[in-house]
Amino acid sequence: MNIGRNPNDHAGDQAAALRPSTPLSKKIAPPPVGARCIAIGSGKGGVGKTVVSVGLALSLCERGQRVLLFDGDMGLANVDLQMGLVPAFTIQDVIFGHCSLENACMRIEGGPDVLVSASGAPELADLSPARRQLFIEDLFRFSSNYDYFLIDTGAGIGRGSTDFLAACPEVLVVLTNEPTSLMDAYALIKTLHLRGEVHGLGVIVNMVDSLDEGERVFSRLNAIARQFLGVSLALAGVLVYDRQVSDAIRQQQSIVRYASGGAVAHCLRDIARHIETRPRQQVVPLSLAQWGKQWEVTAFLSAEGDKAL
Ligand SMILES: Nc1ncnc2c1ncn2[C@@H]1O[C@H](COP(=O)(O)OP(=O)(O)O)[C@@H](O)[C@H]1O
Ligand SMILES: [Mg+2]
Repeated sequence: MNIGRNPNDHAGDQAAALRPSTPLSKKIAPPPVGARCIAIGSGKGGVGKTVVSVGLALSLCERGQRVLLFDGDMGLANVDLQMGLVPAFTIQDVIFGHCSLENACMRIEGGPDVLVSASGAPELADLSPARRQLFIEDLFRFSSNYDYFLIDTGAGIGRGSTDFLAACPEVLVVLTNEPTSLMDAYALIKTLHLRGEVHGLGVIVNMVDSLDEGERVFSRLNAIARQFLGVSLALAGVLVYDRQVSDAIRQQQSIVRYASGGAVAHCLRDIARHIETRPRQQVVPLSLAQWGKQWEVTAFLSAEGDKAL
């Protein structure tokens, strides 16, 4: 199985040398091996999804991983703002055929490659099934050049927000210590549970005063999920409230770079380390089958109201 491995690493395939070489013209391209795909979502907005997505992407890069960061929040896209990027092209340019994914992809020195979205653009769920299908297959192939494919998503349980989450084998749900955030996180987890297929779901509690507080919030969410859904959740990490996070955003930098030695950066690196050291048997890379299947669900749901963009 190709779990969690470097797609370009062919070491160990000793039989390859023994196989007759196929003439170039007859070579059939192998199906691409998916990257480890992690979507970051939340029930409620403003809980720190983008802070986490950008911070995790940089932390994984620090660990030598090749990361593609995709801004899947097409309503309120702001990965570019938090990273100080001025994109020439956005994902919407790709969708509407103005440029390729390669052209739209921004390469950050020592950081992830980034696909920036335009704010206020239509959600993928709003596109015609044919156009959406073309784009998501293209994106799948493009992402398979990386070790990690991180997707920052919009908040809520609407179709546009949950499609990316449902299509990804691994999901991180971010919440804060507010009853609304807790209940909205539960509603999102329930929606994902009902859609099925999420293999690894981790919870990040953000903006708390202490690790203890974060663990208490997680315990409450876990108790509700156990009682009503019969599932046990995993705590992926706790990020404390730190004013430097908003200072960093004002400077259009990730907290991982702005306050590299601070508590939030430390927590984000810890989460990246845990993600990377997850036992290989537990890691399910993105597959075109799952990725495509979840989008087909959306195509079916939107068939009657197809806007045929
Ligand atoms: N750990 C933190 N400490 C302090 N402020 C934070 C922290 N995480 C996020 N914030 C604040 O929350 C705001 C919303 O974060 P953002 O990542 O944009 O949320 P989302 O993507 O979920 O809408 C940021 O502008 C920042 O000021
Ligand atoms: Mg955001």
